[in-house]
Amino acid sequence: MTAATPSPLARPEVERLRGYSAPLEGRRGLLRLDFNENTVGPSPAVAEVLRDFPVDQIAVYPEYDGLREAVISNLQTSPAGLAHPLLPQQVGLFNGVDAAIHAVIHAYGGPGDTLLTTSPTFGYYAPCAAMQGMVLQAVPHALPGFRFPLQQIRDALERRPRILMLCNPNNPTGTRLSAEHVLQLASSAPNTLVVVDELYEAFTGDSVLPTVDFGRHGNLLVLRSLAKTSGLAGLRIGFAFGHADVVDRVCRMTGPYDVNSLAVTAAFAALSDQSYTDNYVAEVIRARRYLVNELTQSGAVFHCDGGNYLLIWPSSSAQQVEQQLRDEGILVRSMAGKPQLEGSLRVSIGTLTQMQKFWASYRQLDS
Ligand SMILES: Cc1ncc(COP(=O)(O)O)c(C=O)c1O
Repeated sequence: MTAATPSPLARPEVERLRGYSAPLEGRRGLLRLDFNENTVGPSPAVAEVLRDFPVDQIAVYPEYDGLREAVISNLQTSPAGLAHPLLPQQVGLFNGVDAAIHAVIHAYGGPGDTLLTTSPTFGYYAPCAAMQGMVLQAVPHALPGFRFPLQQIRDALERRPRILMLCNPNNPTGTRLSAEHVLQLASSAPNTLVVVDELYEAFTGDSVLPTVDFGRHGNLLVLRSLAKTSGLAGLRIGFAFGHADVVDRVCRMTGPYDVNSLAVTAAFAALSDQSYTDNYVAEVIRARRYLVNELTQSGAVFHCDGGNYLLIWPSSSAQQVEQQLRDEGILVRSMAGKPQLEGSLRVSIGTLTQMQKFWASYRQLDS
């Protein structure tokens, strides 16, 4: 009998990583207020094109013709518009913004380089930096109120980090940074790639895209997705906007067909029915106003700023309340282990009816 062949080790950076696992099982059929998703699903136009998707197309590699143009036209016709029109080569297509984050950090981050960001923030930046052997510098938000630590970030930029990752508004604190400040930071740091993750901008309107001129701000890259607003999270489609040279470098990190045909088909349909998305966003904003009002009147400890989510500190154990809500069919996310957020729950905002249901359960549990 020959000895078993051992499995080879990966790169040291990979050996030190733990797999990024989001607790995503067993969520169907429940009220999903735990991952900031769209809680009602995509436009009927999306459902229709998916139902009618030609079976013979499944055997064919995806085609992306016209998708970049459709994305640009969607931005151009939005109320904010685009002061500096974009070209198709300034738009990168990704298998979700997660894949864009991975590709940017893969393209620009090398061993020992610094990735500068704030803390707490979206949980996928750190493992992507670790994969590359980067050093993570995470500046805490300013308390009270989780304000953006502008001066500390300015100071840290003087040490020329390779990448500055700005989540705007920040997940999970909702912290917002004005477009003017984003542009100032980028101008002050020509040796740093400034990446703005604008996944939740539709809920607050702090986007840099309407005003940015990537000809002047060649070190800025903006990430957007159809996951949270248009309800395409399950299909995976995200975009990066920037100088054509940066977009080209980042796209070298992806496979030629990483975005699948169903995602492309659904994206065209979602982009063509912007009013559906706008109405959903308006409903979320209404529901957020309702919940903030109820929380305020009840004297609850909470924090709400940008995004389709807010933080609540229950008077009893957050993990226990999370479990009790789950027993009632409502999912929220405990922030246990996140700096500054111990004892809190992040609650995604859905429709008014959904938030009324959440509040009816929550106020009973935490009374
Ligand atoms: C800040 C932020 N960026 C990116 C993502 C991932 O987005 P996508 O579903 O487009 O990969 C998320 C998802 O929760 C997020 O919160």
